[in-house]
Amino acid sequence: MTDSTQKLVQLAIEAAQTAYAPYSNFHVGTALLLDTGEIITGSNFENASYGMTLCAETVAIAKANSDGKLRAIREIAVAGGLAGHVGKAADPITPCGRCRQIIKEVADLTDIDIPVHCAHATGYETFRLSELLPHGFGPANLK
Ligand code: THU
Repeated sequence: MTDSTQKLVQLAIEAAQTAYAPYSNFHVGTALLLDTGEIITGSNFENASYGMTLCAETVAIAKANSDGKLRAIREIAVAGGLAGHVGKAADPITPCGRCRQIIKEVADLTDIDIPVHCAHATGYETFRLSELLPHGFGPANLK
């Protein structure tokens, strides 16, 4: 566990404070580390039409893209939990299937098997995107 990764995980926990999650009460935060050292955060954004909800990872990656920084993403931290308990679950909170697919776009564009640091009660566990989404569909399949 490096200090800088622990800091990224802490920023994901803090990002969850901006979650708009009145329906699930499950708050998720993400912190993206860029190649410059810059960090971009995101949180989940729910909707009364439940299926329209945007996950924290998707929000953060779309933010990075709209700043022209999609290809600069190097590492991702994710933290979730019921309001007031973010990062406190015994098991790590890992990205949902749709978010894994969104992260794959970054992994394929950068040719980096992006590390995803997933917070839990005593720290975090790191998974590579290829572990989270083996045999995924990506840009290369469209050729
Ligand atoms: N959620 C995320 O933000 N990221 C994930 O990877 C898993 C789920 C959000 C969506 C919804 O607002 C809440 O967590 C409960 O599913």
